[in-house]
Amino acid sequence: MAKKAKRIGVLTGGGDCPGLNAVIRAIAKTLMHEHGAEIVGFLDGYDGLVLDRTQRLDWQAVSNILTLGGTILGTSNTANPFEWHEVVDGEVRTTNRSEDALAVFARHRLDGLVVIGGDGSMSIAGRLAQAGMPIVGVPKTIDNDVRGTERTFGFQSAVNVATEALDRLHTTASAHHRVMVAEVMGRYAGWLALHAGIASGSDVILIPEIPFKWEPVFDVCRKRDGRGKRFTIVCAAEGGRAEGGEMVVRRYVEGSPDPVRLGGIGRLVSTTIEQATGIVSRATILGYVQRGGTPCPFDRVFATSLGFKAAELVAEGRWGRMASWQKGRLTDVPIEEAAAGPRLVPPDDSLIAVAKSVGTSFGV
Ligand code: F6P
Repeated sequence: MAKKAKRIGVLTGGGDCPGLNAVIRAIAKTLMHEHGAEIVGFLDGYDGLVLDRTQRLDWQAVSNILTLGGTILGTSNTANPFEWHEVVDGEVRTTNRSEDALAVFARHRLDGLVVIGGDGSMSIAGRLAQAGMPIVGVPKTIDNDVRGTERTFGFQSAVNVATEALDRLHTTASAHHRVMVAEVMGRYAGWLALHAGIASGSDVILIPEIPFKWEPVFDVCRKRDGRGKRFTIVCAAEGGRAEGGEMVVRRYVEGSPDPVRLGGIGRLVSTTIEQATGIVSRATILGYVQRGGTPCPFDRVFATSLGFKAAELVAEGRWGRMASWQKGRLTDVPIEEAAAGPRLVPPDDSLIAVAKSVGTSFGV
């Protein structure tokens, strides 16, 4: 008797990033083409899984989406079946709706679910897996901070956007003899600032993992001025902070697995430099442009590869695993590994030495 075709669910959780559609396409096409599977997409991340909002992902639905930014399924970085927030009589109530998620999964007669997300989504996936849901994970984020993989798709596209922006700031900095500060995303990790900072030849890179001192930062600006290089470029990660100081919080998002939204360090650094040195300074917050738009070629290839790996894990029934990239190869790790908080830049990362070797300061 012919083996029953698998029915597989797919969802994208957390903040969007370039390459989500490329990975959805790769998972769906590989599973449909190679394994005759049927694919059901859940809309808006875990929202769709709890509220039973779906879209059939047939061949037509996943055609022509490789280069598309965002996610055709929608996403949410607040929905969490285990801590479900809803407003009842004007009050926010928190309930556990994981049973609903399991019931929706069963109602669709699914054999498994692929969760494409960052550490927050993987942590929820790990709990659903413990509750009995067969799950495979795929790591994504512009922050590149998921444990268990050396790289996430979306990161390189964000590095490209941030680098181009820093290059443009360079010309204005040079023309007006200013200190230009660019604030880049990355949450608690400095990967994006480190890569974009090196790629753009920034004079100062501020990352959360290396709390900076103000004097060395002022010193770079003054010395460059004194040497006739009458401008300075500072690339500040949104999670950057002065020694003894706190990260700058932009807002708190109630109900989010991680309610803290960082932002504001760029302006703080810029005004403090101007006050201390007398050199005119401006801040630019790159924000969501780093997350939007078409994936760069590297991310298209990488997302397609991770999608292929996830499809392989599904086909082999290797549930509870996350597709990953380590030591130049596609591999897989337990989902729980990714759930263990963000992957930060280690103090001995070779890129820190690389940046220092060309005279870049980390403000220490
Ligand atoms: O994780 C991706 C990211 O863009 C972070 O770099 C940033 O700190 C956060 O999401 C912003 O979240 P939100 O979309 O909720 O403002």
